[in-house]
Amino acid sequence: MAKKQDFRTILKKVINTEDESHNTSSNDSFEQVVARARLGRRGFLKGSSSLAAATVLGTGLAFGVDSAKQTSKTARAATSMRLSFNPVAKSIADALVVPEGYTARVLLATGDPLKSNVTPYKNNGTDNDFDLRAGDHHDGMHYFGMNRAGNGWDPSGSDRALLAINHEVCEDLGFVHPNGPTNYGAESTEVRPAIEIDKEVAAHGVTIVEVVKQGSTYAVNPDSRLNRRVTAATPCQISGPARRSPMLATAFSPSGERTRGTINNCANGYTPWGTYLTCEENWAGYFNRREDDAVRTAEEVASFKRYGIGNETSGRYNWSRADSDSDLYKRWDASKTGSQPQQDFRNVANTFGWVVEIDPFNPSAMPQKRTAIGRFAHEGCWPAPAVAGQPLVFYSGDDSRNEYIYKFVSAAKWDPRDANRGMAAGDKYLDAGTLYAARFNDDGTGEWLPLTLDNPAIADYADYSFADQADVLINARIAADAAGATKMDRPEWGGVNPINGDVYLTLTNNVSSSSGRGVKTPLNAANPRYYADAKGESVSKGNVNGHVIRWREAEASHAATGFNWDVYLFGAKASAEADVNLSGLTDENDFSSPDGLWFSEAVPGLLWLQTDDGYYTDVTNCMMLAALPGTVGDGEAKMVTNKAVPINGEADQQVKTYMGQPASPAVLSRFLVGPRDCEITGITESPDGKVLFVNIQHPGENSESVTDPAQFTSHWPDGGNARPRSATVVITRNDGGRIAV
Ligand code: FEO
Ligand code: CA
Ligand code: CA
Ligand code: CA
Repeated sequence: MAKKQDFRTILKKVINTEDESHNTSSNDSFEQVVARARLGRRGFLKGSSSLAAATVLGTGLAFGVDSAKQTSKTARAATSMRLSFNPVAKSIADALVVPEGYTARVLLATGDPLKSNVTPYKNNGTDNDFDLRAGDHHDGMHYFGMNRAGNGWDPSGSDRALLAINHEVCEDLGFVHPNGPTNYGAESTEVRPAIEIDKEVAAHGVTIVEVVKQGSTYAVNPDSRLNRRVTAATPCQISGPARRSPMLATAFSPSGERTRGTINNCANGYTPWGTYLTCEENWAGYFNRREDDAVRTAEEVASFKRYGIGNETSGRYNWSRADSDSDLYKRWDASKTGSQPQQDFRNVANTFGWVVEIDPFNPSAMPQKRTAIGRFAHEGCWPAPAVAGQPLVFYSGDDSRNEYIYKFVSAAKWDPRDANRGMAAGDKYLDAGTLYAARFNDDGTGEWLPLTLDNPAIADYADYSFADQADVLINARIAADAAGATKMDRPEWGGVNPINGDVYLTLTNNVSSSSGRGVKTPLNAANPRYYADAKGESVSKGNVNGHVIRWREAEASHAATGFNWDVYLFGAKASAEADVNLSGLTDENDFSSPDGLWFSEAVPGLLWLQTDDGYYTDVTNCMMLAALPGTVGDGEAKMVTNKAVPINGEADQQVKTYMGQPASPAVLSRFLVGPRDCEITGITESPDGKVLFVNIQHPGENSESVTDPAQFTSHWPDGGNARPRSATVVITRNDGGRIAV
C-alpha cells in the first residue's frame, strides 16, 4: 500500500510538470502592458466598424474558398444550417454517451492487432509486440481517402481510407505491464528492465491503419500492406534549415541529419498533398540530464531552462536507465559524457519538438522532421486552405503555460500539380519559409512577428546570442521572447473556418500559484480572465476554464502580418457568475478546458470542440461539442471584472477585451460525453460527413492500481473487470444522415 502511494506521488510529479511555465521572459510584464495601453488603439484597422468591414471583405478566393460560387453556396449553407441533435447531458458515468439517434462503436483500441497474424490483445500486460498493435493514448488523427486501386490518396475516397492516429504517451500507470512499471519516474535511481522500455517506446508514435466501408460504418482491414507503426524508435530524417546543424549532431547521426523516433505525438495536421503531420508536444520530460550546468555552454543552459530540461533530473520514463548498454537507451541521456558531440547524446533533445511529416501511402518514405516550422511543445500544425499561386500557411500552438501561437508561411507558392507528389512536395513547401509568433495587442489588433535574424529584436537580443537561423528555429521560444510575442493561456488546437478564413485556437487554461494567469502572469486583453476555484481543500488559481480565441488575417490573406482578434468563447460552469460565465453558457453547452478543435470539411461552417479538463470533472466527464460559429467582430468590446479573491489580497482587476456573440444551445451544443477520467481528443470524418472518428484518451487515468479492478476508475471500453484502454470510436447517425446538422 505504501509503495502504491509512493508510485502515485511520483506519477503526479511527473504529470504535473508537463505544462509547467518555463517562460521567464519579460514579455507582457506589467510594465509592457502599461506602456502598450498608453499607445492606445493603433492597429491597421480602426474601430469596430472596420472589424465588420474586414469580415465582409475576408471571404473569397484569397482565403482558399474554391470559387465565388462556392463562397456564396457555403455561406448560405452556414446561415441555413441548424444543429439537429438533442444535446447530451453532463455525465460522470463510465460510459461514452452520444445523442439519441446516433451510434458509437469502438474501431481500434490500445493494443488491438494491426495485422491478421497478431493475436488479440489480452490486456493483462503480457502482450509485447506493440510495433504490430495500435499504440496507447490515441490523440490527433486524420482520414486519408484511398483510390480504388488502393495505392494512393484520393481526398474523396470513401470505400477505403487510411487513418493516421497519434499515440501521445504510454499510460503512466503502466496498464501495458503485468504489474505496472518497474523503477519508473523521475525520483527513481534504479535501472529499468529493457523489455518494459521497449514496450513503452513502441506504444508511442503513430498508427497508420486501413479502414474499409462496411454498411454505414468502417472496420479495420487487418490484411492491408499499408498498416504500420511509426514509434519512438523509428529512424527519422531531419530536414529544413536545421538539417546538418552542429546543434543536432549525435553519436547516432554525427552530421545532424537523422534521429530515432517521434514522441509525445499530440495533435496533428495534414497537407494539400495527402501527407500527415504529427506534432511532438511534451518531449522535454523524456530526457535525463544528470550533470552540472557548469559543464555546458551558457547558450545550452539557457535553452535547457527555456524548454524545461532541468539538470540532475531523470526523465518521465527513465528510458536512459535500462539494464542494457545499448545506445537505444543511452540516447535518452542528454548529458555531456564524451569529448565531442558526436560521441554522446548531449544534443539529442534538439532532435525532438518538431512537426514530423509522414506519407501514409508510402511505408518506405522515412518520416521527416520539418525544422522550418520551429521547435517547441507543438500541439499541432493546422493548414489554411491551399490557394494556387499563394504561399501555404500552417498554424501551431505551443502548449505550455504562458507560451505562444505561431504560424509558418512557405516560401514556395502553391502549385496544385504538386498534390500527388508526396514527400517531395513536403521538401518543396515545408523546408523553406518564415516562422512567425503572434502578438495580441490590447486594442483588438495583432501582429505576426518574424522569427529570423533579419528581425533586429532577434539579431540583437541581449539574453541569447543566436548562431544562425538553425539556432533560431531550434530555440524558437527564445526567438519569440526576443521578438515580443504575447504569453497565452496554453495554446492547444487550431483551425481555419473554411467559409470565411477566420482562424480559431483553443487556450485550454492557465492555472498555477507560481505562474498562472492573473496570479503571477498579468492579465491582458487576449487572456483577460482569472478565477479562484475552490474544490474541497484545493484552490485552483488562474484561467481555470480556458477560452477560444480567433482572428481574421489582414488583406484577406493568411500570409498577412497583421490581424484582428476576438474571444469566440469562454469556458465556464453554467452556474458561474456572469463575470466568469462570460459567454452565457447553459446546461446544454457548458464546458471547461477546450483542447481539440476542428472545422468539418464535409460540412463547411460546422466546428467541433473537445475538452481535456480537470476543473469541472466533479460534475461531468470530458466532452465534445458541435458549434456553428459566427465571425470575428460579431460581438462587442467587454470590460471583464475579475473579482478580487482571497488569493492575493488585491483589488478587482478590470480588463477590456473583445468578445464574440454569446453562445446559445442553437449554435453550441454538447454532442458527446466520454467515460471516466478520459480526455476527448482527435477527430476526423468521412468525405460525406456521415461518419465521424473520435479518440477517447486515457479513460481511468486516476486509477489507484493497475492490477486490482476494484481500484480502476474506468473499465471502458471492454467493461466488466477489464483494464481501461484508449480507443478510436466511429460515430454514425442511425438514419444515415450527416453528423450533427
Ligand atoms: Fe497533448 Fe496539449 O495536449
Ligand atoms: Ca491537446
Ligand atoms: Ca490538454
Ligand atoms: Ca493528453
